[in-house]
Amino acid sequence: MTQDRNISNSNFRIEESLQLSKDEVQLWRVDLEAIGGEESTWRQALSSDELARAGRFHFARDRQRFMACRAMLRKILAAYLNADAKELRFAYSKKEKPSLVIPAGHDIAFNVAHSSSVALLAFTRGRNIGVDVEQLRRDFDPDAIAKRFFSEYERKQLAALPPEEQVEAFFRCWTRKEAYMKATGEGLSLPLTQFDVSLATGEKNALLATRPDPNEAQGWSLQEIPSGPGFVAALCVQGRDWKLSLSLGDLEHR
Ligand SMILES: CC(C)(COP(=O)(O)OP(=O)(O)OC[C@H]1O[C@@H](n2cnc3c(N)ncnc32)[C@H](O)[C@@H]1OP(=O)(O)O)[C@@H](O)C(=O)NCCC(=O)NCCS
Repeated sequence: MTQDRNISNSNFRIEESLQLSKDEVQLWRVDLEAIGGEESTWRQALSSDELARAGRFHFARDRQRFMACRAMLRKILAAYLNADAKELRFAYSKKEKPSLVIPAGHDIAFNVAHSSSVALLAFTRGRNIGVDVEQLRRDFDPDAIAKRFFSEYERKQLAALPPEEQVEAFFRCWTRKEAYMKATGEGLSLPLTQFDVSLATGEKNALLATRPDPNEAQGWSLQEIPSGPGFVAALCVQGRDWKLSLSLGDLEHR
């Protein structure tokens, strides 16, 4: 943790003004279970379309997590921009990637991922960014899913590992692929076999190869990021001249 931030899970305080410098990526980890019960608080920060989306969730827990995550996103963005969280407006690309359009005239980019009760929110300036987090599960056959989604290189790397290491390696691969897809904004329309990621731990440049343009890989940083026990996460950011500030809003570790 590089800076101390005033955030609380009891009354949801974030400092009104936060700094985000040009070469910085700030990553917030939020336990949505810990803060999700404050539905009336979150509701006040959301737009009518977000409230409508919240209303379509079947289970209260999912609705609360969505609202908590959106409200948190709004509060953090508002603090970077000295704006009112409620006044922010998002636009969505054809592939549904959200971006902030009101207020205008800023260069803040962000991406959000959630899995179970964990949400990761990543922010930077003037760069495409993508983040993914997955809860580790063991109730599936990694090889079968890899055959469907992974590149030939990735499948071979996975198959070469001892069985007891395959599940974590599978999720390292999955989250890295998804963080890259989310950074480009292409989502699932980006063919998953057109790029290779490393399955190794601690890899700083885990985007190993891109096709058909091999130079594309040099334009991104893709790396594993800490996300707490039982979770695997990855962050993909355009360019390599930036630094990561970790866990600014980590409610669990304060
Ligand atoms: C967005 C997508 C890429 C990931 O979705 P997901 O894993 O279900 O959800 P995540 O928690 O990672 O991300 C959800 C957030 O990403 C953002 N998002 C939505 N579409 C996006 C896109 N095209 N690009 C980047 N970010 C996007 C939103 O902020 C969303 O948050 P919200 O649901 O609270 O609005 C989606 O295209 C998808 O369905 N992926 C399927 C997963 C898959 O098959 N992956 C293969 C990996 S090998």
